[in-house]
Amino acid sequence: MRVAVFSTKAYDRRFLEQANQAFGHELVYFEPPLMAETATLAAGFRGVCAFVNDRLDHQVLRQLQAGGTELIALRCAGFNNVDLVEAEQLGITVVRVPAYSPHAVAEHAVALLLSLNRMTFRAYNRVREGNFSLDGLLGFDLCGKTVGVVGTGKIGLIFADIMHGFGCTVLASDPVPSPDAKAFMRYVPLEVLLAEADIISLHCPLTPQTHHLIDASAIARMKEGVVLINTGRGRVVDTKAVIDALKSGKIGRLGLDVYEEEEQLFFQDLSQRVIGDDLFMRLTTFPNVLITGHQAFFTHEAMSQIAETTLANIRAFEQGDALLHQICADRLV
Ligand code: NAI
Repeated sequence: MRVAVFSTKAYDRRFLEQANQAFGHELVYFEPPLMAETATLAAGFRGVCAFVNDRLDHQVLRQLQAGGTELIALRCAGFNNVDLVEAEQLGITVVRVPAYSPHAVAEHAVALLLSLNRMTFRAYNRVREGNFSLDGLLGFDLCGKTVGVVGTGKIGLIFADIMHGFGCTVLASDPVPSPDAKAFMRYVPLEVLLAEADIISLHCPLTPQTHHLIDASAIARMKEGVVLINTGRGRVVDTKAVIDALKSGKIGRLGLDVYEEEEQLFFQDLSQRVIGDDLFMRLTTFPNVLITGHQAFFTHEAMSQIAETTLANIRAFEQGDALLHQICADRLV
């Protein structure tokens, strides 16, 4: 199929080209993200391949349909950026990559936690400057601490497993407890998790129910000095409330791979520009905040899997086969 591939970087092309040797689709790469201003680039393409921060709202979907697009193949798991109701009404099929190395994301959440706990990102700079002082680098043993896992899907379960390996007690919160949950995990209501956990890691999707799940009132229930890690979606956390909690010391350490307004920032080199997002810039001023730019998925294994599944989804649609990874509007309710 002829497919317009948006938000492509050199690494996307490399993995897609490699996987496409087995599929033979005609892939046309566009570097800009998909949005109202760029949707006309897709005119005449039956397939559109989009990424996590491409904006597939009703306006863009109508433009795509007018240009002849019938399939949107997301090369990511989350689909909060797609107006699925509109897509369905327009007769556009949406497929995604539901699983691609959940280990990649879980391990990155652990990386954020370990770096923040032992301040290795600060130690790295200090040692390079010949500063061997330990002030400000004091960590704590993870062994014996209580970890709260919010969302026990594929990623949350692996994160829970790893933390259990460190000797942590694992609490979990999920409206749909997993049948694969291990005996060491204890499901509790979110309020209990917030009150008892020393470390809280977010692994739920962004839905109307999880938007600002972590707001001022949720933070008020947490332990003093709690460590908060978010590799889920930026809007699960109310950034303003988190900044207040960092200033008061309520949140002791914060690790983010996702950010509420990341669409304006992430996946681009903005080092020569003035960044106008004051909330984001305020976050970067805290010594106890570690932010990565939505890179948790970015491993060799995950990129290969994403490329293969995306191209297989496109082929299944083209051949009229059953679509294993289709997402429909009723997923949102
Ligand atoms: P999954 O679909 O396997 O699991 C999500 C879990 O969250 C489900 O068990 C669901 O019941 C639960 N959940 C839904 N609402 C909840 C709520 N209100 N409170 C607690 N739990 C709730 O998804 P998976 O693969 O584990 O991914 C989780 C999320 O991680 C994705 O939705 C995506 O937003 C994010 N993600 C981030 C990546 C990154 O690079 N930073 C890469 C891939 C996914």
